[in-house]
Amino acid sequence: MFLQIKNLHKSFDTENGKLSVLKDINMTIKEGEFICAVGASGSGKSTLLRQIAGLDKPCFGEIKIDGKLITAPGPDRGMVFQHYTLYPWLNVQENTEFGLKLQGVPKKERKEKASYYLSVVGLSNFAKSLPKQLSGGMKQRVAIARALTSEPKVLLMDEPFGALDIHTKESMHEFILDLWQRTNLTIFMITHDVEEAVFLSNRIYALGSRPGTVRKEITINLPERTSHIKRHSIFHDYRDELMELLRLHGKEALMAA
Ligand SMILES: Nc1ncnc2c1ncn2[C@@H]1O[C@H](COP(=O)(O)OP(=O)(O)O)[C@@H](O)[C@H]1O
Ligand SMILES: [Mg+2]
Repeated sequence: MFLQIKNLHKSFDTENGKLSVLKDINMTIKEGEFICAVGASGSGKSTLLRQIAGLDKPCFGEIKIDGKLITAPGPDRGMVFQHYTLYPWLNVQENTEFGLKLQGVPKKERKEKASYYLSVVGLSNFAKSLPKQLSGGMKQRVAIARALTSEPKVLLMDEPFGALDIHTKESMHEFILDLWQRTNLTIFMITHDVEEAVFLSNRIYALGSRPGTVRKEITINLPERTSHIKRHSIFHDYRDELMELLRLHGKEALMAA
């Protein structure tokens, strides 16, 4: 698996003229990587993920997965959003099967796949529960299970833990790292949370704002991925470097104020 973003530009026509949101974005994501793109709010992160998902088209440049141009959404890309996207009237099993149902997968097969991925995310015992009976972290685990049912080449996540309280967020970090290691998933996640990005990813794209550009690509080498590492200077060094890269400069800061 190889995801390649080449010279991507995206702008929107607004009542104040053209708004340039992404400028000259180049990225590559290889099989088995856990990549985070980290940027301030408004730096174009969701816009970038929507282009990869095929929900919107770049103005210029291209995105390819295994050499094939992305023009529309497809089962090779699984999506998880920040806001809970479960249907409140469907139980956990039905929510997990939903994507496969849309793809026309026969009932028996989608039932088996959904049950398997619910066990992968540790929610087999909640198959009959309704979303309102679940905690925020559990809802996101269902969303991840649903995204995995189509066995995507890459899991795309838009600030998936952004709405969770700090303790739930930390346990979800451990959960996603464990899942990544167990399943050899390829993950591309976007976040504004610098510590989250350093803790989870093996490589980070730091985005500047207005328009969003890649300021720097940083490979993260941590000796371990447990909460202890957050107290080590190596973790703080990565965090401080990223914070500095993300900070708005001069005119940008004035415009954002
Ligand atoms: N469909 C759209 N039309 C006009 N402007 C948009 C549209 N989508 C996003 N934008 C603008 O693009 C900028 C980046 O938005 P977004 O990608 O949501 O940033 P982020 O996810 O990093 O917070 C914002 O200024 C936003 O208002
Ligand atoms: Mg966003």
